[in-house]
Amino acid sequence: MLLIETDLYKVPNNNNVRKIALLTSGGDSPGMNAAIRAVTRSALACRMQVYGVMEGFRGLMQGTFKKMNAGTVGDIIQRGGTILRTARLDEFRTDKAVRDRCYANLRKRGIDALVVLGGDGSFQGAALLAEENPALRVVGLPCTIDNDLAYTDYTIGFDTAVNTCIDMINNLRDTMNSHDRIAVVEVMGRKCGDIAIHAGIAAGAEAIIIPESERTDEEWLAYIQEKLEIIHKRKKEYGIIVMAEGMHSGDKPHGTKFTAKYVSEKINKFHGPGGNAYTSRPTELGHIQRGGSPSASDRLLASTFGIYAVKVLKAGENRRCVGIRNNKVYDMDIGEAVQLKKSTRNDLIDIADILAR
Ligand code: F6P
Repeated sequence: MLLIETDLYKVPNNNNVRKIALLTSGGDSPGMNAAIRAVTRSALACRMQVYGVMEGFRGLMQGTFKKMNAGTVGDIIQRGGTILRTARLDEFRTDKAVRDRCYANLRKRGIDALVVLGGDGSFQGAALLAEENPALRVVGLPCTIDNDLAYTDYTIGFDTAVNTCIDMINNLRDTMNSHDRIAVVEVMGRKCGDIAIHAGIAAGAEAIIIPESERTDEEWLAYIQEKLEIIHKRKKEYGIIVMAEGMHSGDKPHGTKFTAKYVSEKINKFHGPGGNAYTSRPTELGHIQRGGSPSASDRLLASTFGIYAVKVLKAGENRRCVGIRNNKVYDMDIGEAVQLKKSTRNDLIDIADILAR
């Protein structure tokens, strides 16, 4: 259970924040709606006016605002996607003129604060907007399935995506088992292997391939072969290998070739110690991982973070982002947060390795 002091009402409204806007940006993540609901209802409870911006920063640039009330956010806590819709607008990060236009649209409506629900790219843009316009309060809520923001242990949407992967892998298990095949399952996460390692452990994968490891392509293939030999000795003829899409994102040392299809084709050429040949099939889970009703964990995280964001605004703080560290909700400077490098979860890598024996 999360620890948070819900002293929302006790915090004085130091900067007299009266009108806030919120938007969802980048890839949608399950729990975004629960966060929209939490921000809206807690801000309304503090007598603030709330405006939803449609389609992320693109809508901010075009000036598409929608007044929110408690009813607008009814019946959405259980829904995936985002009722505010979302978009990727790289220019918001790269072009100051775009940010200036967005800021002008906020000022025109007398908006004091902006809450940004998104991932790494959205936070980078939000940090710049805040830096350039100190009169505007900006708070970020981490919403991405990737769990790739270093300042927080968890992002909203990650848990649901991991659970979706597990469900899909359970299905794959049935058919792989029936045919004595090795599934190579590719999951999302951009350059981050968190979805792969969490889903892989929880689904009982034989090998989990993540870009954070120092292994070269050849070492990975040798590792997979070794794991397959281990299960073969146990008379198990099928297996599950989970790999992160970051293995072929183009970064060194893996380049772009290390896809599920590539790994699967390599496995088809392996021969075990007894001369046994393996048969493998690749599966790219794709966008199915981004949809679906948010898990209880994501709903709780979104609800807690949403209230906390309003508390931060009331307290007169600026350029913050909300996160969770060691089970405690906290906030930090959003500009500093996007500079942090995520450390590799060697503990989880060890767990995966020990259990795949
Ligand atoms: O950031 C979320 C994410 O789903 C990544 O895991 C993935 O690499 C990317 O978005 C896919 O982006 P798009 O939906 O634009 O194809």
